[in-house]
Amino acid sequence: MKIVVRVWRQAHAEAEGRMVSYPVDDVSEHMSFLEMLDVLNERLTLQGDDPIAFDHDCREGICGTCGLVINGVAHGPLQTTTCQLHMRSFSDGAVIDIEPWRADAFPVIKDLVVNRGAFDRIIQAGGFVSAPTGTAPGAHAAPIPKNDADHAFDAATCIGCGACVAACPNGSAMLFTAAKITHLGLLPQGQPERSSRVVGMVAQHDAEGFGGCTNIGECTAVCPKGIPFETISRLNRDLLGALVKGGSTA
Ligand code: SF4
Ligand code: FES
Repeated sequence: MKIVVRVWRQAHAEAEGRMVSYPVDDVSEHMSFLEMLDVLNERLTLQGDDPIAFDHDCREGICGTCGLVINGVAHGPLQTTTCQLHMRSFSDGAVIDIEPWRADAFPVIKDLVVNRGAFDRIIQAGGFVSAPTGTAPGAHAAPIPKNDADHAFDAATCIGCGACVAACPNGSAMLFTAAKITHLGLLPQGQPERSSRVVGMVAQHDAEGFGGCTNIGECTAVCPKGIPFETISRLNRDLLGALVKGGSTA
């Protein structure tokens, strides 16, 4: 395949960015999207040009670092991570726009790399348990209703990629925050901090500059782990309950 990629290039956080076009002539349909960028970067490096900076780690859909906006859609045309997207999803001769996540709370560091430290700070504000959780056999011994265990597990599949933020017109991180709150709030080990967790994490979400949720639903449409929209309703119910009880009680 021969394609053209138009890539956001920005030397550093304060620099002005712009889209730059690069033809890529030696693309196999079996390459992942990131492997296609590797091929382009190898050529840029051999030419003495600055390679395109982009984030990645596991390349297995697990770590959540590889977020790119591809042709205006977070993670591109399939509801999967960018590393699990393959070039067979594009046509020979395609012109593909590649941009970083766009959100005030995710400032660009360089090219396609953004700072997602805001997610870490939301987790620090309550995304943990203080109860001793023991070892794996101990976990199996704790009786948990199957429905709760299933929903907690589904929420725990959130990989913190940030696609939900990039897709949301409000730049809201409510789906991410709701997934973390649901994951812990449905399990017995998560009960001691259930109220303080939701109050603290939502306060940090707002302090980081993420927007509010207005029920648009773009977040779930791009979430590579299929975190359902109703997860946000669960957060709202927990938040209301915590505020009625007095907010920050542990
Ligand atoms: S909720 Fe989905 S889109 Fe948002 S950070 Fe988690 S995995 Fe990524
Ligand atoms: S590189 Fe880890 S999820 Fe894509």
